[in-house]
Amino acid sequence: MNKAMDAGGARSSAVSVRGLHVRRGTTTVFDGLDVEIPRGQVTGLLGPSGCGKTTLMRSIVGVQKVASGTVTVLGDPAGSPSLRHRVAYDTQDASVYGDLTIEQNLRYFARLIGAPASDVGRVIEQVGLGPQARQTVDSLSGGQEYRVSLGVAMLGTPEVLVLDEPTVGLDPVLRAELWAIFRALAAGGTTMIVSSHVMDEAVRCDRLLLMRAGRIISDTTPEGLLSSTGTDDPDAAFLALVERDEAAHPKLRREGDRS
Ligand SMILES: Nc1ncnc2c1ncn2[C@@H]1O[C@H](COP(=O)(O)OP(=O)(O)O)[C@@H](O)[C@H]1O
Ligand SMILES: [Mg+2]
Repeated sequence: MNKAMDAGGARSSAVSVRGLHVRRGTTTVFDGLDVEIPRGQVTGLLGPSGCGKTTLMRSIVGVQKVASGTVTVLGDPAGSPSLRHRVAYDTQDASVYGDLTIEQNLRYFARLIGAPASDVGRVIEQVGLGPQARQTVDSLSGGQEYRVSLGVAMLGTPEVLVLDEPTVGLDPVLRAELWAIFRALAAGGTTMIVSSHVMDEAVRCDRLLLMRAGRIISDTTPEGLLSSTGTDDPDAAFLALVERDEAAHPKLRREGDRS
């Protein structure tokens, strides 16, 4: 047992959220959210569209306006200058230049964030784009383009990588390839926080945070999810948990269901 563990769970967590209140427009997204995310694991943030996955990720990377509560990342308040190179975030919007090659994009972003030039070649290999390194991003498939943007997030070797629905719209083979990359990063010690609205991604995570209508309805593991609901199908397990949650909190609307 290491010192950080002895000193208490919060300090050894990658992310610690306490009493978080967030409003977006007229919607109250979080009304007192508490979450702990362990280091060095793949944590899946799973739940239907509109449940608050992106808002939680934005809070973790420090770009979300917060009404009250605290979000602590690697021991510092989310968004602190000290976290700038330790935490990377990949949104779903394209963030790379279509008319530049993969290599040019990565060189540009490496200079921008002050990552070593040697990161460019390393990252291209890690995301499996060696053969395409001199192709423009415009000439790539959607799955390859995403891997370029993942590569940008990996520059500078961040300790926490926050990926918002990285596998959405990808076929099963491409999804499996991406998950192999995520697992390799976690094996190297990176804390991976990955959101999805597809429950079959659940089995690939170490830890699961199941969300509904701005609340964590279960903080579990893939095995825990299945055994607590007596099923071998993650979708059915999530539905069973939603039904339990609805019975316990009948006045909360199933906000996600409208998408
Ligand atoms: N820019 C915004 N203005 C107002 N409401 C928003 C905005 N973005 C998100 N919301 C609302 O916040 C809630 C959570 O959204 P979000 O975090 O994007 O969910 P998810 O990522 O799980 O789909 C939803 O009810 C959504 O309608
Ligand atoms: Mg989202």
